[in-house]
Amino acid sequence: MHTTSELQEIIEKAISEIEYPAHPKNLYAPIAYIMNLGGKRLRPALVLIATDLFNGNIEEALPAALAIETFHNFTLIHDDIMDNAPLRRGKITVHEKWGTNNAILSGDVMMVESNKQLTKVKIEVLKAVLDTFNATAQGVCEGQQLDMEFELRHDVGIAEYIDMIRLKTAVLVGGAMKIGAIVGGATNEEAQLIYDFGEKLGIAFQLQDDILDVYGDPEKFGKQIGGDIIANKKTYLLLKLQELAGKDDLTALARHALNTTTLTTKIDDIKALYDRYQVKELATEQMRQYLDSAFQALANIKVPEAQKKVLIGLANALMHRER
Ligand code: IPE
Ligand code: IPE
Ligand code: MG
Ligand code: MG
Ligand code: MG
Repeated sequence: MHTTSELQEIIEKAISEIEYPAHPKNLYAPIAYIMNLGGKRLRPALVLIATDLFNGNIEEALPAALAIETFHNFTLIHDDIMDNAPLRRGKITVHEKWGTNNAILSGDVMMVESNKQLTKVKIEVLKAVLDTFNATAQGVCEGQQLDMEFELRHDVGIAEYIDMIRLKTAVLVGGAMKIGAIVGGATNEEAQLIYDFGEKLGIAFQLQDDILDVYGDPEKFGKQIGGDIIANKKTYLLLKLQELAGKDDLTALARHALNTTTLTTKIDDIKALYDRYQVKELATEQMRQYLDSAFQALANIKVPEAQKKVLIGLANALMHRER
């Protein structure tokens, strides 16, 4: 068994050694840029942890881990276009640096690069890995579409929101772990259980991301604080507020939804409403419940408890993350 930091070191080194074609320069430079901005490497680490959990060979799973991280970074480039985001990992976003059309195309070719990495897995598991990857990637697109549609809706319910974040974020966390497990020789049943763990963890992870979008430290979080508020994103915080707020506060909220100019006031006002109705605490509570259900899925996996420690440690640490 490897520790998370050992695995992240292996991943970091492998990423720094990836070589992209030199021409056209502006197609490939954004890939090297975003891939080396220093993300947490959570998803590739989960690929390898899942392989390790089933006593598989992590070297064999490394290309799949790189494929997952490349895919994730591709989604970030396109997500930042869709969310009109100026900052990613504390640096200027790809579309602001190279322009939107360039960012679209660099993202597209990253999807191809992900597939090229994936086909390096051993032939016995190739089909299962590709099937899982495709289902995952499709889910992410569906979630992203819903996320955008929700910006314009006023009647989004919490169950719909949870399903949207399941798709845009959690299926990739689950899919990464399932792929790692498949490469590691897990049975179908075990691969499904680790997927369930990852999906629940992913939902908790996105709830935390939504909290950090409002309450994070801008230096540490590396993204624009209040971006979700500006864009009228339907987050757990906002939906809970809509559920709890009195008539006057709801009117203020509706007025802010129309306002896209005096953004500082909008962020401050909505944050004050969040505080008034303690929705941060409620979101944190919901996050913990998803973490608990992730652990329930993990409990059903029949590997020695000692081997689960890395995963349990990482999942718990994520709930206190600042970036
Ligand atoms: C950002 O993912 C996108 C979400 C699903 C919230 P991460 O928070 O894992 O971003 P990096 O890769 O560490 O930068
Ligand atoms: C993350 O949603 C989902 C994907 C990137 C696919 P967000 O839009 O909340 O992610 P961040 O906050 O920009 O990283
Ligand atoms: Mg975003
Ligand atoms: Mg988004
Ligand atoms: Mg976010």
